[in-house]
Amino acid sequence: MAGPSQDFWQERFERGDTPWDRGAPHPQLQAWLAQGLLSPGQQVLVPGCGRGHELQALGQAGIAATGLDYAPAAVTLARERLGALPGRVLQADVLAWQPEQAQDRVYEQTCLCALHPDQWQRYAQQLHAWLRPGGLLLALFMQARREGADQGRVEGPPYHGDINAMRALFPAERWDWPAPPYPAVRHERGWFELAVVLTRR
Ligand SMILES: C[S@@+](CC[C@H](N)C(=O)[O-])C[C@H]1O[C@@H](n2cnc3c(N)ncnc32)[C@H](O)[C@@H]1O
Repeated sequence: MAGPSQDFWQERFERGDTPWDRGAPHPQLQAWLAQGLLSPGQQVLVPGCGRGHELQALGQAGIAATGLDYAPAAVTLARERLGALPGRVLQADVLAWQPEQAQDRVYEQTCLCALHPDQWQRYAQQLHAWLRPGGLLLALFMQARREGADQGRVEGPPYHGDINAMRALFPAERWDWPAPPYPAVRHERGWFELAVVLTRR
């Protein structure tokens, strides 16, 4: 399979080589919480949860979210971070896992961009299948275009989430898109993410 393997991610966590990690919950999560888009009682999924900062913030808001990650070291770290707060962390492959019940919200932060684009269609199918009709995909589309793209190279992670590719991946027949402009949330490493809330049709 093209792209990073489970071992790749496991080793990154074991080495503490996690430059994407802000060491705190993503500021856009706090904004979406403040807007009331996430609330207690909802079924909320956080695929590729990593160290679990966002699970912790959700738990502190009384939201028992489910975090998924297939790197055992990430699962251990996220469980430690969550502690006794509401929520849980499952070791699972986002390309195969299925929930017991339909989800109200999926919070997508740096999982899509961690997957090789060869896996994007499968992942987008999963996101659609996980959510109930009317459920929300709270997405942070990674903007990290590399020079190699000018020669047609596909380089990552993080893999660049060009907005045209995102429209193709989450087509209007299956997802309702708000009108742009979308908030751009910058990371100290130089990339930024577009914050878009899609509604599953
Ligand atoms: C770039 S990190 C982001 C972690 C976290 N979302 C954050 O922003 O701090 C990508 C995460 O996705 C996980 N991941 C990558 N591919 C996965 C897959 N197929 N199934 C489950 N987790 C996966 C990795 O183990 C890693 O924790």
